[in-house]
Amino acid sequence: MSNLSHAVSRRRTFAIISHPDAGKTTLTEKLLLFGGAIQMAGAVKARGEQRRAHSDWMKVERERGISVASSVMTFDYADCTFNLLDTPGHEDFSEDTYRVLTAVDSAVMVIDAAKGIEEQTRKLFEVCRLRDVPIMTFINKLDREGQDPFHLLDEIEQSLALDVTPASWPIGMGKAFLGCYDLWKDQLILMERSKGGMPGLGAPCTGLDDPELDRQLPALAVEALRHDVEMARALCKPFDIQAYREGHMTPVFFGSAVNNFGVRELLDGLAGQAPPPRPQPCVERPIMPTEPHVTGVVFKVQANMDPRHRDRIAFVRLASGHFKRGMKLKHVRSGKIMTMHNPVMFLAQDRGLAEEAFPGDIIGVPNHGNLAIGDALTEGEELHFTGIPRFAPELLQKVRPRDPLRAKHLGKALLQLAEEGAARVFKPRFGADWIVGVVGALQFEVMADRIRTEYEVPVIFEPTSLFTARWVESTDPVALKKMIDANQASIADDHEDQPVFLARNAWHLDRTAEDHPDVRFLKTKG
Ligand code: G4P
Repeated sequence: MSNLSHAVSRRRTFAIISHPDAGKTTLTEKLLLFGGAIQMAGAVKARGEQRRAHSDWMKVERERGISVASSVMTFDYADCTFNLLDTPGHEDFSEDTYRVLTAVDSAVMVIDAAKGIEEQTRKLFEVCRLRDVPIMTFINKLDREGQDPFHLLDEIEQSLALDVTPASWPIGMGKAFLGCYDLWKDQLILMERSKGGMPGLGAPCTGLDDPELDRQLPALAVEALRHDVEMARALCKPFDIQAYREGHMTPVFFGSAVNNFGVRELLDGLAGQAPPPRPQPCVERPIMPTEPHVTGVVFKVQANMDPRHRDRIAFVRLASGHFKRGMKLKHVRSGKIMTMHNPVMFLAQDRGLAEEAFPGDIIGVPNHGNLAIGDALTEGEELHFTGIPRFAPELLQKVRPRDPLRAKHLGKALLQLAEEGAARVFKPRFGADWIVGVVGALQFEVMADRIRTEYEVPVIFEPTSLFTARWVESTDPVALKKMIDANQASIADDHEDQPVFLARNAWHLDRTAEDHPDVRFLKTKG
């Protein structure tokens, strides 16, 4: 196997999706701990209430360095290199969150055993489903009383329309939680109660009938385990790697992240079963990771640490080839050649300069705002990646400058922020106000803060009666023009001059769509 194929086969680029408080931060810390990337858990970032506190979050955003450094975490485990991409979640839920999920090859869904599937998990899952991203499930907090495992499996299967298959089975729960039986390796894993202790491994078993289990566990627990597993095997399909990799089946691990429990099994599962980098879709052809020429796509842009400077970091996911520092790459959209003098690699604690990188890896490319989301970098080929959709914003507000004389400056700021992907910006064909669309409410405040500090334009956001935005498209230009002419007052242009329909309510949207059957009203745009 060539150096490149070998490197590709051992890459695992993934993200964690979850609802706030399910344990994403804790699990991230523990994954890094097992991967040897950090010595002591607790170093990833501020957590819990503190992290979610509003003022703190703004401060973190302003300092930027922290959120950039924890955006991608790279660690090695079991002869694989893992890239864990952070999905900004919680109240700062934004389009970035969605886009990060277009840059991963698989995801881990963390569920709180007491709460089951929650809203944010479902939303993020739907984004994964758009691209059939394979998902491993980690049911967390087994050290607390939670829902019955069968109920949880059933909920995942029913509410997400996904086949489930247990990869491990819990023995007891809450105070009576003794550990899990690893169904993939036929091994007993015993819970170590002291905080921070590593879970003990029982002797490998020959199966559930192995008398070793009777020696290690109380009689009642063994009986319940045998009974449950028999039932689970009868109810669930056996693990099928193809169904998993196509996004139709999720293996389920049970554990307790805070107790380090189940983390090693999850990592082994990812190393053994999760897919290596997949081909990346392009207008021209799919790009295979093992192609020798270096190609990559920008999936996220972040303003740099110092808000007074216009520099940005473009996050590039390598799609093919062996990248080396100092390479010259063509920025396809502008036709300019860029020398990769100081690309950034993301290690858990430190940002280091990238010397080399492989498909599936993320490099940060500092630039002055010329790299935008969706842009391709290649060794010369004209490629146009298609995998990064735009999502219609769910919240729309009007924005105007406090000082009307600053309207032009505001326009410039909004366009730059839109290019960076911080929000959608629409200019209605009638009226002077800009409309800003976001997917998470906190983004309005972040925008206002950034426009004030970075562009020196104090602004006012005001609610609108708008319900949603849809990009409008048609293969028939006459039909499209007819629709636009008939709805002038509801048409705006996005920052790339693409027409958008701003609906006042669901009825307005449905009605207009019905009246113009040849026009497509798109929630996402490729
Ligand atoms: P998030 O990133 O998904 O929002 O969750 P985070 O890891 O911050 O965890 C949320 C809370 O759940 C934390 O408690 C954390 O300690 C706790 N937690 C995580 N995993 C487990 C587990 O396996 N068992 C139990 N019992 N709790 C778990 P907190 O009170 O908010 O913070 P802290 O004071 O404990 O740090």
